[in-house]
Amino acid sequence: MKHLFKWLAGVSLLLTWLITQNAVAAQNDHDIAAQVASGKIQLAVIGAGSLGSSVGSAWVRAGYKVMFSTRHPDELHALTQKLGPNALIGTPEQAASFGQIVLLAVPYKAIPQVSHDYATQLKGKIMLDATNSWWSGRYAIVKEALKDGDGVVNQRYFKGVRLVRAFSAVDATVIAASSEGKRPPAGVPLASNDPQAMQIAAELVKAAGCVPVIVGDLQAGRSFEHKHKGFRANTTPEKLRKILKLPANH
Ligand SMILES: NC(=O)c1ccc[n+]([C@@H]2O[C@H](COP(=O)([O-])OP(=O)(O)OC[C@H]3O[C@@H](n4cnc5c(N)ncnc54)[C@H](OP(=O)(O)O)[C@@H]3O)[C@@H](O)[C@H]2O)c1
Repeated sequence: MKHLFKWLAGVSLLLTWLITQNAVAAQNDHDIAAQVASGKIQLAVIGAGSLGSSVGSAWVRAGYKVMFSTRHPDELHALTQKLGPNALIGTPEQAASFGQIVLLAVPYKAIPQVSHDYATQLKGKIMLDATNSWWSGRYAIVKEALKDGDGVVNQRYFKGVRLVRAFSAVDATVIAASSEGKRPPAGVPLASNDPQAMQIAAELVKAAGCVPVIVGDLQAGRSFEHKHKGFRANTTPEKLRKILKLPANH
């Protein structure tokens, strides 16, 4: 009997701890979502090339403060001067610290280095992962991705990061044109093992002038990786849903 009481007390303590942790996480997500909605969240781009600069510029135009980074930040002045004071420049390490939410848009071969070098700064953060193993040569990580899928492999490297596949399957030029109102807003497919992080990422897709199309977990996200139909469909959300065989109001 004594053992049973001890066991029950242990279980009850564990349950209380789990409930408290969930409540803290939910409050944290609520706060992040509120900051996104009010435009007060700090964003960062690691890899401000074609894709990173297109999405980051759209966010600056939407009123967010964005730090752009590459390994050669001195080359980013022309970009940030056009965008005004909300566009900042930093090293990838500074961007990983500055961004409460981070967009990753580096060549795929850089993932082992980036995930290792900025693990401390990125821990627990939401990361919008736009990378593709497509056209990345014969690196070991590309072989892993061919077997298991880009999203699953990236989450394996970025342990402790709330990874959401976003902006990976749409051309940078299409995102720029959507955000500038030069074409109908493009559908941007999203996948993540973290549904709360994905909802927050979806708001940032809207902020970039596009329409989020929630696909499912990282395994389901293979449907918009290269060699699959949703990759570079560059189309409206309605047509994208049809291509991905999602219900119309998903
Ligand atoms: N272009 C598109 O239309 C498009 C669309 C969807 C997804 N994507 C994906 O986005 C990623 C980038 O493609 P992109 O076309 O934008 O390439 P890109 O124009 O060559 O830009 C890549 C950027 O990453 C930086 N970079 C490279 N290695 C880095 C590292 N280790 N740490 C930090 N920054 C690094 C590069 O600058 P430095 O060399 O100076 O560091 C460069 O600014 C790829 O994975 C691609 O598949 C591209």
